[in-house]
Amino acid sequence: MHHFRYVGNQLHADGVDLATIAGLHGTPTYVYSEQTIADNYRRLAASLADLDLKICYAMKANSTLAVLRHFANLGAAFDLVSGGELRRVVAAGGAPGESVFAGVGKSEAEIRFALETGVYGFHVESEPELARIDRLAGQLGKKAPIAIRINPDVDAHTHAKITTGKSENKFGIPLKAAAAAYAAAAKYPHVELKGVQMHIGSQLTKVGPFVEAVQKVLPFVEELKKLYGIRYFSVGGGIGIVYQDALASGDAAWWDAKPEGERPLTPEAYGAALKPLLAPLGLKILLEPGRFLVGNAGVLVSRIEYVKRGQGKNFFILDAAMNDLVRPAMYEAYHEIVPVARDTTRAALAADIVGPVCESGDCFAKDRTLQEVREGELVAFMSAGAYGYTMASRYNTRPMPAEVLVSGARFELVNAREAYENMFAGEKIPGFLKS
Ligand code: LLP
Repeated sequence: MHHFRYVGNQLHADGVDLATIAGLHGTPTYVYSEQTIADNYRRLAASLADLDLKICYAMKANSTLAVLRHFANLGAAFDLVSGGELRRVVAAGGAPGESVFAGVGKSEAEIRFALETGVYGFHVESEPELARIDRLAGQLGKKAPIAIRINPDVDAHTHAKITTGKSENKFGIPLKAAAAAYAAAAKYPHVELKGVQMHIGSQLTKVGPFVEAVQKVLPFVEELKKLYGIRYFSVGGGIGIVYQDALASGDAAWWDAKPEGERPLTPEAYGAALKPLLAPLGLKILLEPGRFLVGNAGVLVSRIEYVKRGQGKNFFILDAAMNDLVRPAMYEAYHEIVPVARDTTRAALAADIVGPVCESGDCFAKDRTLQEVREGELVAFMSAGAYGYTMASRYNTRPMPAEVLVSGARFELVNAREAYENMFAGEKIPGFLKS
């Protein structure tokens, strides 16, 4: 459920017309709904109520400071993957001491910074990383809290580029080798075995793989509790969202109309399936959801630059491009694209919806049928709140887009469109090229 809907024929985020935001702040602009984020967070937390639960929001999905502060206010901690993300948590007023530091390639500088700042746990992905953390913690006179990421080798049935729980990919330590990894870790003087972690993939729309993975690792987790007194089990993130019918899925009626077997994963179904498995452990349970919390809480608003009618092919050329929202180009991901001003009297037109970047991969949708839109009009990409802005780049020297947060009838620019001067502020012409 979310708070983007037509009021009359104008698409609104909560109580604000997206055209008003575009008029004031230009396009392309990401617009987030404060209320949708809060609803998603509370629903997920409620679905696992009674557990000793901590939601560590996977901030790689959307790490804008305003969004992080909102999560901190809601009571979330963070799942972070770099020294940069840790600095963002601090800058936003979040709690690093309750947050976890994941990632396969933590550098010495990042580990040192995390040890100095204090994190809840390092999610360790290899034995060399463990050795490095131990050594650096020793140098700083600290004990590093760690959890080893175990790879349960479960097929998440999701896009090949975002599946992580299969043994052939680079993440974690295979379940078979995990006992030995913990035994080795127990010998390091400067680490504390605090937990265990897993994550099987992203954009899962069925609960089955989550259940399978938890069941598979449960005996091992119990063993770790007995042997080392570990205190937490992080079950990772991965809950999927609706992309295809994104706008309609804002309403409860859309979900209610779905027969049980066809209903995409809900937090309630996730909680109902996992709670009975996790409760008997008597451990603190960490969740690391990213996409579920912010995905449907954001749209990317863009303006039509040109309507190009070709022979047998039409193109809507937007002012947003693959640099602003890379998911379609990178994963062939589907994003629903809707007009900000709906006009039911207009004909529908099939067109390729593309950006201005100079490569044919800069295509958001092929042969998509949309209301016939005209130059200067606005469209919105639904479900763009996760992995949208965070994956944006400056390709073609296009500035990073603006971001706006809406709360009820209020809205505020939370990240200004990047200024051209900033784009090459760190660059210089070397002396040997100056004549
Ligand atoms: N925990 C770990 C260890 C992860 O690697 C990830 C995501 C998450 C949590 C959060 O997963 P989520 O709840 O958001 O599914 N850029 C891709 C998604 C990459 C996900 C990477 N890991 C996309 O745009 O679809």
